[in-house]
Amino acid sequence: MNAMTRHSELKGAQSMEPSQERPFFSVEDIHAWYGESYIVQGVSFSIAKGEVLSLLGRNGAGKTSTLRTLARADSPVLKSGEIWLDGQPLHRMKSYQAAQAGVQLVPEDRRIIGGLTVEENLLLAQVSGQKGWSVEKIYDHFPRLAERRTQEATTMSGGEQQMLAVARALARDLKILFLDEPYEGLAPVIVQEIEKIVRQIRDLGITTIIVEQNAVAALRFSDRAVIMDTGTVVYSGAAADVLENAELRHNYLAV
Ligand SMILES: Nc1ncnc2c1ncn2[C@@H]1O[C@H](COP(=O)(O)OP(=O)(O)O)[C@@H](O)[C@H]1O
Ligand SMILES: [Mg+2]
Repeated sequence: MNAMTRHSELKGAQSMEPSQERPFFSVEDIHAWYGESYIVQGVSFSIAKGEVLSLLGRNGAGKTSTLRTLARADSPVLKSGEIWLDGQPLHRMKSYQAAQAGVQLVPEDRRIIGGLTVEENLLLAQVSGQKGWSVEKIYDHFPRLAERRTQEATTMSGGEQQMLAVARALARDLKILFLDEPYEGLAPVIVQEIEKIVRQIRDLGITTIIVEQNAVAALRFSDRAVIMDTGTVVYSGAAADVLENAELRHNYLAV
């Protein structure tokens, strides 16, 4: 069975499911635009609770735009399609409502708040959300952040700021975590540390979508993989199958 057949079969199976049997997270034929630019061109996939999905594809394939659409950012604008999280219709929500529904996006730029300490960043994440992880629980899992709790957050290294960005997401009440290129711009030794954290997140059973240029690194700890090209899904299946499929990697991932 080739990749394209596999994808269309998955899509077919999904659309026949009655709504009460929707997967934990379900993206159904979403189309999104930046002004006149049609970017997300009919993306569908789903994730079971606790699974990690790698969202892959070359630069400009539409990965960030897809995550932004799923998190209900103001742009790109979702014009059609449905997004369901644990029975909740995200497609009818604005970003703050999606956040309240349990969607947490850690964007590429990490958005650490300047002028605040590590601990203040964590406490602020908690007041804006409902009940997520306590600061103590975060420090248990991220001892590095505990050591630096009184440091101004933006003076930390890139890797530590990435840790804080993930911790802030956990401090909110999250049902699904989107990580957009968490290794971007980090030295290899720091990448290993972040990878450890992502593995911890997986082991905690937090449903996660990870976008990564380093496809192999992401695939190694993912259950599922979706590959995008020019705003569409060209593959959807098991992460292990992508690792084994050299042709697929060559055609869409440049690895
Ligand atoms: N704010 C924007 N306005 C218009 N086009 C955009 C905007 N952001 C991204 N794009 C375009 O959308 C396409 C997909 O970009 P993006 O989702 O960032 O890809 P990826 O994350 O896979 O590298 C690209 O062609 C990019 O130029
Ligand atoms: Mg991107």
